[in-house]
Amino acid sequence: MTQDELKQAVARAAIAYVVDGAIIGVGTGSTANFFIDELGTIKDRIKGAVASSESTAARLQSHGIRVWDLNEVDSMPVYIDGADEIDASGAMIKGGGAALTREKIVASVATQFVCIADGSKLVDVLGKFPLPIEVIPMAVAVVSRKLAALGATPVMRMKDGKPLVTDNGCYIIDAANMRISDPVALEQTINNIVGVVTSGLFARKGADVCLLGMAGGVRTMTFPGQSSLL
Ligand code: 5RP
Repeated sequence: MTQDELKQAVARAAIAYVVDGAIIGVGTGSTANFFIDELGTIKDRIKGAVASSESTAARLQSHGIRVWDLNEVDSMPVYIDGADEIDASGAMIKGGGAALTREKIVASVATQFVCIADGSKLVDVLGKFPLPIEVIPMAVAVVSRKLAALGATPVMRMKDGKPLVTDNGCYIIDAANMRISDPVALEQTINNIVGVVTSGLFARKGADVCLLGMAGGVRTMTFPGQSSLL
């Protein structure tokens, strides 16, 4: 199976976690896009969705799915999204698609985080994938120095020769060469750096369930400790 076929398989499997009549939190990225396309086929069963990015909102709307503003929604049963890496505790690196802040906000309103990913995303130790960090533009240099002091190699994310601008008008620093042995502590340390909007570590509150696309089928991993951290 190709990587896209694995992503499609987990996107299809995630439909089982959609609650009829509910508003669904929807992530960003290629796996989330496959999920949105699946959601389009059952759109009459849901009340709508909250999007974690402008691109996700546009794709949901292209399927005729109503997109709600998060401020109109008190709670959601489920948030479904991909990941760049996930470990055996459900901690994740996210933000490869630069949507980490909105992803973390929407996920925080959902009871359950269902991660959908191809099997290559499961790792023993997080950090091979450079950790995305959203930063207020004027703080890029100071935040970069502080990340370097933590042992990272900070790299400004660029697009078309200019700094990539997020949906929130901010920049992304990718912190490379980090071997993240304590994701919960590092998430807190980075989030406490003045000028950081948020880090792409989803560790204090990680996934509750992960559907992993493997050659032999979809593997379901559950992380019962996570829900108590809401
Ligand atoms: C976007 C994300 C994505 O979920 C993550 O980058 C995985 O993307 P893909 O499904 O394309 O592999 O965090 O900000």
